Amino acid sequence: MDRRPFVAAMAAAVGTADASTELAVNGGAPVRTTPLHAGNWGPEYYDDKEKAELAGVVDSRHPFRFGGGRGQDAPVKVLTFEKEFAQRMGARYALGVTSGTAALEVAYNALAIGPGDEVILPAWAWHSDAMAVVRSGALPVFAEIDESFNIDPNDIEHRITPHTKVIVAVHLQGNPADLDKILPVAKKHGLKLLEDSAQAVGASYKGRPTGSIGDIAIYSHQETKTITSGEGGTVVTSDPVLFERALRFHDVGGLRRPQQAMLPKVQLNPFVAANFRMSEFTGGVMLAQLRKLDAILEATRRNAARVYEGVRDLPGIRFRSRPDPAGETGVAVFIRFETKSRCDKFVEAMRAEGVPVSKPGGSVVLPIQTYIEKKITVHPAWPTWTSERGKAIQYGAANCPRTIDILERFAGPAMHPKHTDQDVKDIIAAIRKVYPQVT
Ligand SMILES: Cc1ncc(COP(=O)(O)O)c(C=O)c1O
Repeated sequence: MDRRPFVAAMAAAVGTADASTELAVNGGAPVRTTPLHAGNWGPEYYDDKEKAELAGVVDSRHPFRFGGGRGQDAPVKVLTFEKEFAQRMGARYALGVTSGTAALEVAYNALAIGPGDEVILPAWAWHSDAMAVVRSGALPVFAEIDESFNIDPNDIEHRITPHTKVIVAVHLQGNPADLDKILPVAKKHGLKLLEDSAQAVGASYKGRPTGSIGDIAIYSHQETKTITSGEGGTVVTSDPVLFERALRFHDVGGLRRPQQAMLPKVQLNPFVAANFRMSEFTGGVMLAQLRKLDAILEATRRNAARVYEGVRDLPGIRFRSRPDPAGETGVAVFIRFETKSRCDKFVEAMRAEGVPVSKPGGSVVLPIQTYIEKKITVHPAWPTWTSERGKAIQYGAANCPRTIDILERFAGPAMHPKHTDQDVKDIIAAIRKVYPQVT
């Protein structure tokens, strides 16, 4: 009996295509001819709430968070945002700053790292994860990622030296890093753990928000992140000394009254620092966005879960590893391939079906960036690479062959909280049609 009509009828009923139909890349009819809903999440949720927050700042005529005649103790947007953010992220303190990069600089300085210290971070992350280490004068040391795209917990310990101070777990592409395996390594060697949750705002790990588990954490509010004010970042910690150092570093070494009042006692002297203060405009927009965070996540997670469910039965299919599937934000559904060539064919064929997929993005392979490989800083005497260890360390592709290989063998659709029911059905249909046919 020819099962094809039956399979096709079933496929149509669940909104999936027949895997035996001609691929669009070979001249067949594409799954879809109109673009899927795409774009940055946060701005699509902008409405009267953000407008009201901005208008409130305009009307107050105090865009500076500690603004003028209003008095230092006045309840203001950034302070309110910080309080709600700390609560949502399960931390004692939050500090709004001007970007995720600024947040990294604040966090590394809060941890008091500097010349002679080493920081272990994943070979695949954002430029500023490494740049902020270098700008503090410390030395970046790279570990491989695993198939979660996050730092491989088994590749950290052998990179620890007597100079290592910090391990950075970056929760990449919405996927929480496996902190149950990383934390014991940090504890065993007396190291601090920094969580970079820039790409995973709102994610959780085994029931706890990412960012609340390590010693200190950062988030980005740049336009492509879960919630956004265009630019912006937040540092969170539950440690009062780290918070005091973060406060001082972000505000030219000083402490303002409302923030000082949050500390059990003042423990540090002013020190040479910078200005990364968040403006009231940013604080207002972030406050409105934060109150929408869970609705945005709920929608994206639901859509991503449908795609996982809709293709899970395809013979041989495997996904990016997820240490806590319930905790990821659902940014994308990455499918694993045995070879780069099969992955490339999948990308090409899916594009032809009108359902584009991509390989992991939004980060870079750090050890092969020219400024790392060639150790380029604005001043030739920069302490990072003039120390003995700094002169000896070699970067480049040889640091992270596994990372480079993994990034070539995964691809998948970006998910969106505003994907329509039809969008999700078409994503499933295209994967079901293409995956079994690419060899
Ligand atoms: C993992 C990670 N950390 C830090 C940052 C820096 O954030 P920002 O762009 O807000 O400076 C980014 C930005 O993309 C990021 O992806």
